[in-house]
Amino acid sequence: MAMAPAWLSAPRAALSHLDGVVVPAAASRFRSETAARVVAVVFRPRTTVVSAAAQRSLVAVAAATATVPAAAAGGDDEAGTPFVEEMRAAAMRLHSRDQARDGRNEAPMEPPIAKWQPTVDGYLRFLVDSKLVFQTLEAIVHRAAVPWYAEFRDTGLERSEPLRKDLEWFRQQGHAIPEPSAPGITYASSLEELSGKDPPAFVCHLYNVYLGHTAGGRIIGKKVGEKINLQKELEFYEWEGDLSQMQQNVRAKLNRVASGWSRAEKDRCLGEMEKAFTCSIDLRRHMFMLP
Ligand code: HEM
Repeated sequence: MAMAPAWLSAPRAALSHLDGVVVPAAASRFRSETAARVVAVVFRPRTTVVSAAAQRSLVAVAAATATVPAAAAGGDDEAGTPFVEEMRAAAMRLHSRDQARDGRNEAPMEPPIAKWQPTVDGYLRFLVDSKLVFQTLEAIVHRAAVPWYAEFRDTGLERSEPLRKDLEWFRQQGHAIPEPSAPGITYASSLEELSGKDPPAFVCHLYNVYLGHTAGGRIIGKKVGEKINLQKELEFYEWEGDLSQMQQNVRAKLNRVASGWSRAEKDRCLGEMEKAFTCSIDLRRHMFMLP
């Protein structure tokens, strides 16, 4: 018997990965004031207890940066594979062939873009939620309660400011800009939580949000823009400077940071991959499922 596609039965990331995170009980109960409260939480400077593992990584990053030539400061494990390649391989196992050439997932987690029926309103909800997620990540690395998060400041891949400009453009065209909705709010609050309690797992989300957007995110932007007949290149999909260099820099930083991790910490990072995909897909449900 044919199995139902994964995206029909996948539990909302909103509820599937929030062990220990305080969020309103039902996604449908989110109201704009809830959004405002979460945003306020996101930007509240706070002190986080930094785990011994995080401190070890800091020392290792400092050591790798100070003493190891760039090419070797790769966070290689015993087999000599730079850690970011392990991350990419794990990500590719979750892509379908129609998403990426190296995709290996035969049970696609979301329908092919060709079948999406996006509306401007659905796209706006996706852009608003994406802005909240990027703002949250950017605030976490700016605050750097785990000191080595500071490695990921000012990478050039930050997107909250371009998204702010894009949303302002939509507003000037007469569109009402919605408040953040459940998938964005719950993802943002879980990133906050994870950044304090499990730095390697948090880094998996950072990798997927920043680098995934430069790959599949651009394809989605192009195809959705065509489908809704958007007569504008959004700034969300335009980077100032050399994008491939910025991607390389972030990969090198990921390798450096991971060079201080134990195998168990690396595995926690890789083990977070599926949640990162589910959370990302949840942000897009407004574009491929009718409400
Ligand atoms: C419509 C959905 C998607 C499409 C069309 C798509 C497409 C792609 C493509 C074409 C690549 C480049 C592959 C290569 O270098 O050979 C890629 C890479 C990647 N994608 Fe996706 N993808 C999608 C969904 C996702 C999702 C849901 C995530 C997770 C949040 C994600 C995360 C990544 C990551 C992390 C990479 C590797 C980036 C790097 O290391 O530079 N993708 N994707």
